[in-house]
Amino acid sequence: RLIKPALTALSAAILFASATAMADPITIKFSHVVAENTPKGQMGKKFQQLVEERLGDKVEVELYPSSQLYGDDKVLEAMLLGDVQLAAPSLSKFQKYTDQLQVFDLPFLFKDMGAVERFQSSETGQSLLTSLESKGLVGLGYLHNGMKQLSASSPLKTPGDADGKKFRIMTSDVLEAQFDAVDAVSLKKPFSEVFILLQTKAIDGQENTYSNIYSQKFFEVQPYITESNHGVLDYMVVSSARFWNGLPDDVRGEVKSALDEAIVYGNQLSEAKNMEAKQAIIDSGQSEIITLDDAQRQQWVDAMKPVWGEFADDIGQDIVDAAEAANQ
Ligand code: LMR
Repeated sequence: RLIKPALTALSAAILFASATAMADPITIKFSHVVAENTPKGQMGKKFQQLVEERLGDKVEVELYPSSQLYGDDKVLEAMLLGDVQLAAPSLSKFQKYTDQLQVFDLPFLFKDMGAVERFQSSETGQSLLTSLESKGLVGLGYLHNGMKQLSASSPLKTPGDADGKKFRIMTSDVLEAQFDAVDAVSLKKPFSEVFILLQTKAIDGQENTYSNIYSQKFFEVQPYITESNHGVLDYMVVSSARFWNGLPDDVRGEVKSALDEAIVYGNQLSEAKNMEAKQAIIDSGQSEIITLDDAQRQQWVDAMKPVWGEFADDIGQDIVDAAEAANQ
């Protein structure tokens, strides 16, 4: 009569022992705002795949694209609360945490993505990865999207064409000053709201890369895109110090090398993704791409470049100089 309960207790003990030996995998939730078929979306997929191959039993990566989980205005708060473990907001979205990263928003600072890459890999660029440490965030690397273009409901050829027009911007005072400089009005709005704002004509335009203009369908509601290349849209891949430093050393090392590889992959892809998107927009016939001649472009430079002076002290003149030097 006593045998049955004894056996039950024994099997429960065995079950418990095997369950504790097979601890639950560590979950890394990666929350971002763009579509899957973008440099950031593809980097995320690559990271998920590499982690699955190398650490499948210990770590799992969950991807939440297209603002499904959090928009960029909330994701860093969610990260500090432990709800998200990985994010890659645009460098324009860290103003609440540091002034230094605003260097990336200065208009006409980088002549091309090669200069952006050189600055990010320089000693100064690498030191900016630690600029969020006092706020409990760890910078794990830079990820490229590309150069920004101006889209609008009317053609923008010279700064005067933007006068009085309303543009959506990311949450950056530098970007606000950039549009002030051409007498335009700017509104700080989450990425997920941009399409509807454009479609309903609540705003006249916005600035973004071809990849975002295409994958968010902005080109369907913006008949003109000025190829201004006036600024860069890149990302910092971040985690919270609490999560990152709490990982077992061997796991952290493996996750970091998978992430480094995924970032290299995303960066290599970024130019092609933007070129593909530009071509698809041209093929759609829904939006005209305006190229500026040298004199027109110079007018935008002359109007917007004085913004540097307004922010150099907050950012640090040494950082601005190092970024400018990367053009050589
Ligand atoms: C934007 O808000 O326009 C961009 O930051 C979106 C992104 O992540 O590329």
